[in-house]
Amino acid sequence: MNILDLRQVEKVYGEKENQVRALRGVSLQVGEGEFIAIVGTSGSGKSTLLNLIGGLDSPTGGSISVKGREISSLSRKELTIFRRRNIGFVFQNYSLMPVLNVYDNVALPVTFDRGKHLNRRYIEELLRELGIWDKRKKYPHELSGGQQQRVAIARALVNKPALLLCDEPTGNLDSATTVEVMGLLKASCRKYSQTILMVTHNEAIAQTCDRIIHIEDGQIVSGRRRFHGEGGEGIC
Ligand SMILES: Nc1ncnc2c1ncn2[C@@H]1O[C@H](COP(=O)(O)OP(=O)(O)OP(=O)(O)O)[C@@H](O)[C@H]1O
Ligand SMILES: [Mg+2]
Repeated sequence: MNILDLRQVEKVYGEKENQVRALRGVSLQVGEGEFIAIVGTSGSGKSTLLNLIGGLDSPTGGSISVKGREISSLSRKELTIFRRRNIGFVFQNYSLMPVLNVYDNVALPVTFDRGKHLNRRYIEELLRELGIWDKRKKYPHELSGGQQQRVAIARALVNKPALLLCDEPTGNLDSATTVEVMGLLKASCRKYSQTILMVTHNEAIAQTCDRIIHIEDGQIVSGRRRFHGEGGEGIC
């Protein structure tokens, strides 16, 4: 089953002469468990695409369904709950709460969700796997960039989301930490059959994903599966 189905998605920001057509007729199907890289030049529409898929913003045309639910048909409240239970976000700037320690930052999405109880064993497992269990009482400003990003990943994974949306998650990290973070994302993807969409400027990283979606000027210009294309074409 496709976990994600986008049909002719359009996004126009602003009005009249200030209009920007950020996405133009984007159609995309993603199967469960796929790890997808999204590449494209600055301003091509990558973040816009992730924001729409995550229901953080709404399209001006077309349809987006996640796990078979058309997200524009959900009320604000339904969307908030749907997002919390099914979608995890990892951003480049970590977006951790400075006043909460590592443990509480990771537990935050569960704390918000009144219908769910805090699975302390799972949080411990996650923090141990990500190598930040011994940092659980530290505050974000006491951590390195790589450690903060691991906290952000743990927080994104805490509800075991079916879909993980990452916007340049390794953009601020050195190359050793980048390799480490990629390994953690891949392991999580396999272990929980998660689907990951990851924006990256790093060609080498993109090449390690199952599929590369290339966006230019608000349109998908190529997005074939790796290894299935005609030989030697570089980006698929
Ligand atoms: N909130 C907004 N209001 C108006 N225009 C916007 C808004 N967000 C994005 N845009 C415009 O939409 C286009 C796509 O932006 P987007 O942020 O999706 O690009 P991107 O591919 O993520 O770029 P980058 O690699 O620099 O992060 C750009 O022209 C941008 O200026
Ligand atoms: Mg962006």
